[in-house]
Amino acid sequence: MPTMRVLHLSDLHYGAGDDEAIERGAPVLVDRFDPELVIASGDLSHRGRQDQLARASAFLRGLGPPVLAIPGNHDIPYTFPARFTRAFREFERQWETTEPTFSSPTLHVIGLNSVRPWRHQSGGIRGAQLARAQERLRAAREGAFRVAVLHHHLISAPWRSRKKPVARRNHVLVELVHAGADLILAGHIHQAAVSERREFEISTGGERGVVVSIAAGLGQPRPKRHGEARGVHVYEIDDACLRVHTFAWHRTDWGLTAERRFPRGREPLFSEPA
Ligand SMILES: [Fe+2]
Ligand SMILES: [Fe+2]
Repeated sequence: MPTMRVLHLSDLHYGAGDDEAIERGAPVLVDRFDPELVIASGDLSHRGRQDQLARASAFLRGLGPPVLAIPGNHDIPYTFPARFTRAFREFERQWETTEPTFSSPTLHVIGLNSVRPWRHQSGGIRGAQLARAQERLRAAREGAFRVAVLHHHLISAPWRSRKKPVARRNHVLVELVHAGADLILAGHIHQAAVSERREFEISTGGERGVVVSIAAGLGQPRPKRHGEARGVHVYEIDDACLRVHTFAWHRTDWGLTAERRFPRGREPLFSEPA
């Protein structure tokens, strides 16, 4: 299969006063990598306001490639009672659904809505939702690379953070892996973190490689807060491996900060001394 590319943006926080840097930053990477799909893993807006979500959505659609977007905890109304009575109305107005699917012969992506309106920060996936997610993943075409996306993180932040991972995260992770996910994406912590399951699970041999990846925020609503970088991920997928490129924003341009390569399938990467 020819190399396929996906651009992963997260936490744009449109309306937090930083939109110009976002609008300058993202198109550069689309031009450079020509991704098959752009994934936006939540917190598109800063306060869930209609105008903020509309501008963020128009910007994402204007990038060119198809876009798969899911809501984050900032994409629902900030005020009561709207927070409960019409939590996802504006998001659905823009994107029709909070749990979209993108499916092509080479790539199958499912979005999960992990936002719980009655809890501002922490997220969760209900049992029925997870069961449906498994069915949705299994509907992938033979040989397609399978991706699950949610807003709340499944692995911890590298820098200190008070934000908790998605509720029952071990269970959520295991179920997504069982259903065939090759890559599981999130945002929310505004820090990049990438890990392959065999880096944290005890291997009993023959496991399929699964990478969990969190993109830093594209927006930077709290620029003075340590441990909240501005960055994006680009994934390059071919038959043998998955490459994760981590870009961080340095004042006026992107800097390539890390390139990680993970094996696809059950065998470790082939390596030989330089
Ligand atoms: Fe965020
Ligand atoms: Fe968030």
